[in-house]
Amino acid sequence: MAILLRLVIFLALTLTTSACEVTPWSNDADCQNLKTSEQIEKLIIKESNDGRKDHFKVFLVGDPQGNPANFEKIIEYANRRSDSDFLFVLGDLTDMGLAQEFDWACKIMRKSNKPIIPVIGNHDAISFGKEIWFKLFGDFDFSFQYQGSQFIIYNDNKFEFENLDNRQVIEEAVNNIEITQIDHRIAIAHHRPWSEDLGFNQFLFDMGLSVTIHGHGHHFDYWLEDDVELPHYMVNSAKNVSYGIMTVYPDSIEFEDCYKDSCVPAILQR
Ligand SMILES: [Fe+2]
Repeated sequence: MAILLRLVIFLALTLTTSACEVTPWSNDADCQNLKTSEQIEKLIIKESNDGRKDHFKVFLVGDPQGNPANFEKIIEYANRRSDSDFLFVLGDLTDMGLAQEFDWACKIMRKSNKPIIPVIGNHDAISFGKEIWFKLFGDFDFSFQYQGSQFIIYNDNKFEFENLDNRQVIEEAVNNIEITQIDHRIAIAHHRPWSEDLGFNQFLFDMGLSVTIHGHGHHFDYWLEDDVELPHYMVNSAKNVSYGIMTVYPDSIEFEDCYKDSCVPAILQR
């Protein structure tokens, strides 16, 4: 009887979904006005209005896949923080890379009263996820400048994308910067540096990076590795309403691990 009931519910959901404009297999998720380029444009306007600040804060949201209610609560917390400038969502907005999942994520992202910039995760790139992502948000790799710092976003989902050359992406971003003097270079990617990629941490250090920021691990971490003086920060998943806050000063960067409205300083593990 229970199996029959589940079958009826499944068929009802399937028929309902197929009757709507958005289906899990289409790439028609409604993410209007959430293109990365539009979000960066908003930041540029904000910077122009605010002028140079002595510090700024960024919300870091990890892996909201399957936790839309908690994702929405984090957006609400961010909306209340007038001292934060924008948000990164550090990948895995979806579980299966389906249009319906992107549609849910975008409905929540649209509630942000600040620019919100997503980074592609491995789960976002399965099934039709790559094409949907590109259509909705744009390039997988990109770079921008804000308040004297350069942000370099690189796609390091090596199992879902062939022949990724993260070194080239980062090197080009560093070399193509328009201003000569910057406070920090901050790299953002879903995965922490892959241990199989020997020498990558040293490469990042040599490129002049101040820190790298990641999701995927579903826990908080703040650490050094490979005897390289380059900190890495990982944010917990959005499950349980966890998120990170980065504060960028001209000569330092600090992180906080947050749960609901309570935050504690992240301590660098050496
Ligand atoms: Fe992931």
